[in-house]
Amino acid sequence: MTSKILITGGSGQLGYHLQQSAPAGSQLLCPGRDQLDLADTASICAYLEAQQPQAIINAGAYTAVDKAESEPELAARINGEAVAVLADYSAHHSCPLIQVSTDFVFNGEQGHPYLVDQATDPVSVYGQTKLAGETAALTSPLGRVLRTSWVYSEHGHNFVKTILRLAAERDQLAIVADQIGSPTYAANLATAVWQLLDLWPAQRCYHYSDAGVCSWYDFALAIVDESEALGLLNRRPELGPQRSEDYPTPAKRPHYSVMQTSNQALHLPAVHWRAALQTMLNRLSSQQ
Ligand SMILES: NC(=O)c1ccc[n+]([C@@H]2O[C@H](COP(=O)([O-])OP(=O)(O)OC[C@H]3O[C@@H](n4cnc5c(N)ncnc54)[C@H](OP(=O)(O)O)[C@@H]3O)[C@@H](O)[C@H]2O)c1
Repeated sequence: MTSKILITGGSGQLGYHLQQSAPAGSQLLCPGRDQLDLADTASICAYLEAQQPQAIINAGAYTAVDKAESEPELAARINGEAVAVLADYSAHHSCPLIQVSTDFVFNGEQGHPYLVDQATDPVSVYGQTKLAGETAALTSPLGRVLRTSWVYSEHGHNFVKTILRLAAERDQLAIVADQIGSPTYAANLATAVWQLLDLWPAQRCYHYSDAGVCSWYDFALAIVDESEALGLLNRRPELGPQRSEDYPTPAKRPHYSVMQTSNQALHLPAVHWRAALQTMLNRLSSQQ
């Protein structure tokens, strides 16, 4: 395992779990945006020059999917142009680079799981800028792309915590039921990232999600059921399914963005999303 590893986005969901599960003996560099601002090329270059990392995991990103529609330039700088700078360093210093990407690079229209080499067609600014990041990362011979989906954790902001908050406040919740994907616990994603860095197969692009598929509505039902059982919720709102078109958002989202995770050079056995959700909620419960 390479020893001096730069993790961007260390304060985010994945960044947190990468630090929790880092291999023994690795030296992690986890700069905040005051030390390495992904929106500022000069800041990235200065940091890389000063620290000379031996591997880079780019877990930092502009992840506000709806806000990106009104801040496309900033999203493009952080999700695309910053990766080009990291890839240039990767190529010139023989430094492995893992670029974390998203199911939102697909348009979600084909109705069955996407293979790693299928054509991309993002339907949002966020997806377009993440795709630009993938392209940039792959300009380095040591660039690898790891796509994931619907990430949540006990750390940071995500759908699970939003549902817990809304369930405690409201009597009724309407949740989108016509977008299908695979929820992924950031702790499991972090394990996949470390395995990729350790095994480093020749394939360039990978998919990692927890096993199983569901709609946001199914996911919300499971969150409420499991949280009630754990005593994290002491009231139960009525949950109903909703169509995407009745819940307009600035960014369009794919209807079916499930990714094929088998048949890859790196086979990462995945736990079912509901078991992963139970693990996360247990940890959240023990923190309270
Ligand atoms: N969340 C999802 O559902 C999801 C789904 C598919 C793929 N992904 C991808 O998975 C990766 C990890 O996502 P996540 O959920 O862990 O993200 P997250 O929790 O939103 O964290 C994003 C991280 O990026 C950092 N960041 C943002 N702008 C920055 C800048 N200008 N300079 C430096 N750092 C900056 C944030 O720092 P601050 O704390 O300073 O803001 C934070 O540490 C990302 O590549 C994301 O695109 C996420």
